Amino acid sequence: MSAVLTPAALKRPLLVDAAFLANPYPAYQALREAGPIHWSEEFFGGAWLLTRHADVELVLRDPRFSAQRTGAWVKNHEDAPGALSGFQQLFARALLFLDAPDHPRIRKVLNAGFRPDVMQGLTPHIEQVVTELLDRVQNLESFDFIEAVARPLPVRVITLLMGIEHPQQEDFMAWSEDLASFIGEPQPSREQARRAQTSLLAMSRYFESLLALKRKTPGDDLVSRLVQAEARGEIQGGAELLAQCAMLLFAGHETTRHLLGSGLHSLLSHPSQWQRLREEPALLPGAVRELLRFDSPVQYTGRRVSTDLVLHGQQLRRGDLVLPLIGAANRDPERYTQPDEFDITRSHGNSLAFGSGPHTCMGAALTLMEAKIVFGQLLQRWPGLSLLNATPIWGNKPAYRGLMTLPLRHKANG
Ligand code: HEM
Repeated sequence: MSAVLTPAALKRPLLVDAAFLANPYPAYQALREAGPIHWSEEFFGGAWLLTRHADVELVLRDPRFSAQRTGAWVKNHEDAPGALSGFQQLFARALLFLDAPDHPRIRKVLNAGFRPDVMQGLTPHIEQVVTELLDRVQNLESFDFIEAVARPLPVRVITLLMGIEHPQQEDFMAWSEDLASFIGEPQPSREQARRAQTSLLAMSRYFESLLALKRKTPGDDLVSRLVQAEARGEIQGGAELLAQCAMLLFAGHETTRHLLGSGLHSLLSHPSQWQRLREEPALLPGAVRELLRFDSPVQYTGRRVSTDLVLHGQQLRRGDLVLPLIGAANRDPERYTQPDEFDITRSHGNSLAFGSGPHTCMGAALTLMEAKIVFGQLLQRWPGLSLLNATPIWGNKPAYRGLMTLPLRHKANG
């Protein structure tokens, strides 16, 4: 049965409130059933929302939808001139927000740092970091998985990849969280904008000195590869290089944290599936893919229409913002049978959790490896792991879905 939207609801058809943040899937379903495309004034002053798998995939793959979209953030803060000028000059040059020809040129440079042999080389180090983090809570009756593992691990991994030897972990996490608070918010406040810009500039200063160091004494890491590419003229120094460094530092934090947190929550709240994994660890890679589909850490991304076009009978104008709702697409019944069922044996291939097309996540292989190591070690170390609190507390950013805390008990059966 189709859901009916009132005229007021049509302006804000999703209504990002506490109930939505706790569980957005019924709202996505209602929206999908009400029609394939909706205009919402709730996001960035106005955007088209798409919920169907086929449409989300189309928008992510079709060059008529441009990745250059940071201008909307700045425009929304025009009442405070210059408030986001540094942000726009720098972050707009990150890979995520570029189209061809800059996008493929820079992506090729970064690709070298994510090759399978590089990932393989990182594996024992990540194993070791995970062991160390779990050792710290081994003797506790209970612990918060987010604080103990899901939050600190991604920053440890990205700094390994980037070749940062003495990471300022707390700063890196705080800077990334400020960026995520701004980017993940449909209507960011002036304070969120200010903090995001301050943190981005702090990141940029940090990387200026790291890049100088790597130019003098390069190693076998991603930042060294970037300065070598700069020397060959494949990437420009200054803002272009700094933007990629800042993006890399930021990209894997919130996302990986949420995969680990919501993922473990999904597994432990479906004990038969946790049990199944204990018996058949070979199911783990498929289970991680299902976790990503079932509760996607990135719930939506954005694109800007680059030429007037008609989609599902709606006239989209050049410059309009489109939000492909990844979280909704990954629950589309046209694409997945019983989409609201969590099933680690589902064989559906990849979902849209890492995006699709030219901007598909570069960290996907790294993330899958990280998640397999974490869940693998948990299954081995504490097969009787259980949730301490049945009511999860979800974060407040609609773009990045994940848990604030995940209290666990491992003692009883550990
Ligand atoms: C659970 C973890 C992660 C999820 C769900 C995720 C999700 C995504 C999505 C949906 C996109 C595409 C955005 C768009 O098309 O607008 C993306 C792009 C990207 N991700 Fe991830 N990501 C994760 C982890 C990581 C990690 C760990 C890294 C880095 C080490 C990373 C680096 C990137 C980069 C560089 C891009 C931009 C690619 C491009 O524009 O060509 N991601 N990610």
